[in-house]
Amino acid sequence: MSSCDFDHGLERRGTDSQKWQKYAGRDVLPLWVADMDFKSSPAILSALHARIDHGVFGYARPVPSTIEAVIHAFEHRYQWQIDPAWIVWLPGLVVALNVTAQAFAQPGDEVLTLGPVYGPFMSAPKNSDRTSVSVPWILSAGHWVIDWAALERAITPRTKLFYLCNPHNPLARVWRRDELRQLADFCLRHQLVLCADEIHGDLILEPSLPHIPIAALSPEIAARTITLMAPSKTYNVPGLGTSLAIIPDPTLRARFLRATAGIVAEVTCLGFTACEAAYRDSEPWRQALLAYLRGNRDYLLVAIAEELPGITVAAPVEATYLLWLDVSALGLSNPVAHFEQHGLGLSDGAMFGAARGSHVRLNFGCPRATLVEAIRRLRSALPAGLPPA
Ligand SMILES: Cc1ncc(COP(=O)(O)O)c(C=O)c1O
Repeated sequence: MSSCDFDHGLERRGTDSQKWQKYAGRDVLPLWVADMDFKSSPAILSALHARIDHGVFGYARPVPSTIEAVIHAFEHRYQWQIDPAWIVWLPGLVVALNVTAQAFAQPGDEVLTLGPVYGPFMSAPKNSDRTSVSVPWILSAGHWVIDWAALERAITPRTKLFYLCNPHNPLARVWRRDELRQLADFCLRHQLVLCADEIHGDLILEPSLPHIPIAALSPEIAARTITLMAPSKTYNVPGLGTSLAIIPDPTLRARFLRATAGIVAEVTCLGFTACEAAYRDSEPWRQALLAYLRGNRDYLLVAIAEELPGITVAAPVEATYLLWLDVSALGLSNPVAHFEQHGLGLSDGAMFGAARGSHVRLNFGCPRATLVEAIRRLRSALPAGLPPA
């Protein structure tokens, strides 16, 4: 596979891949958990090779060039200037969602979010006896929109936190500046701490839509925000466990750090190495990846509309490599089990808070040929008697 040859996948069967092990020994294409079937960028691979050759893998701290790479990327991509002191390195962002719930809410307090959403947004509060409150997204004229009135109604004296997914998983939706402003005002007005998970921020497929970190909007909202970022999704290095929480306010940062103390593992030397090469040296690869993912998205949208009656994509797919499929018209009680029987491993919409049987999520971070086969298998999985697409 040459540097940007996304068409030719690599064999992941028999490796330590969580995605592929789930269906070991079965003819099931795994299109579920969010990692991609592509090698990381050549820059990351050569930096890791060099780091391995050094041969010593002690406890790690980031070197200045790693921090500079992060700061420069955020400034260049989002016009967001961050101070090195604001960065808290973490082994993962699910960790950060859990730490945030413990640090900024008490047992019984409420954590507000918009659902459907990435499962740990709802499970993290519950893990420490906080309550997760999910306000539904509304589908209006082919777009997912925010029900601001319902958000207001959801506020109680126990609402302490808002979890934002920007861009949104699983709806693949990019937040607009005016929406982020309105959300920032909402959080400020109700004195909520805002946890902004922006792990998919570098995976926007629409060139006209910028990623806007909500904390970059104003010093007021920055002072209430914990922004979560990572190279993991974009550069396909989630197994290296390297993520960042950016917390400008020193009091918030101290509370967050206190909740991590003695519990949260440190980032490893290989993780720091990959992170630096990702943010500093992998931009051409990222652009090529985005072009490829755009092609995958477009292929799927046409194939689904033309060949798969009963399966729909309700709104534009603006970001991520995750496709939210409405399968409610198929009338399946357990769509994931049904599609597995037809050779396809998808994520269950219920994990994201959707009604059981209504949605599945498909990961299109893979070679196009895999998707062609996935469409064939989906077609074979359609119940007989549906009207043509
Ligand atoms: C919005 C969001 N946050 C966090 C994660 C996982 O982060 P980590 O692997 O760093 O725990 C994912 C993975 O799909 C995600 O979609």
